[in-house]
Amino acid sequence: KPVYILNGPNLNLLGQRQPEIYGATTLDDIKALCEQHAASIGLQTAFHQSNHEGVLVDQIQEARVKGCGIILNAAAYTHTSVAILDALLASDLPIVEVHLSNIHQRDTFRHHSFVSKAAKGMICGFGAQGYVLALDALKPLIAPSS
Ligand code: DQA
Repeated sequence: KPVYILNGPNLNLLGQRQPEIYGATTLDDIKALCEQHAASIGLQTAFHQSNHEGVLVDQIQEARVKGCGIILNAAAYTHTSVAILDALLASDLPIVEVHLSNIHQRDTFRHHSFVSKAAKGMICGFGAQGYVLALDALKPLIAPSS
C-alpha cells in the first residue's frame, strides 16, 4: 500500500508563490524528491494536491482504505479545518504533518494546527527536505501487514 502524500491549497503555486518564504522548489520537484526517496527506503507513494477542503477529506478517506500512512501539508487548512482533523482521526493510520516554513516564526494565526492533534509528529521549517524527513519518520511506524 502507498504512503499518501497530500498537499493543500496554493501549494500548486510553489516556486512562484512567496519564494522568500517557500523557496524555489516546485510541487513537481517535491513529488519527484518524494518518489525517489520513498523508493530508496522501500515505500510506494500516492502524491496529491487540492485547493478544496472536501477533496482533501476525500483523499484522507481514500488513504484510510488504500494507504499505509499519510504525510500531510494541509497548508492554510491546517489552521482552520476541523473536517480535515476528523478525517485524519478516522483514518487510524500513522500521520506526519509537514510545513515548508517554520509556522512558529510566522503570524500568530499560523501557530495553531488542527492537524497536529491527529499527527504522530510535525516537521516544519526545512523546506522541501521536510518531506524526505517525513518519509523517514513514517517508515518505522508503518504496520508490517500493510
Ligand atoms: C504552509 C504554512 C501555512 O501556514 C500556509 O498557509 C501554507 C503553507 C507551509 O508549508 O509552510 O500555505 O503549510
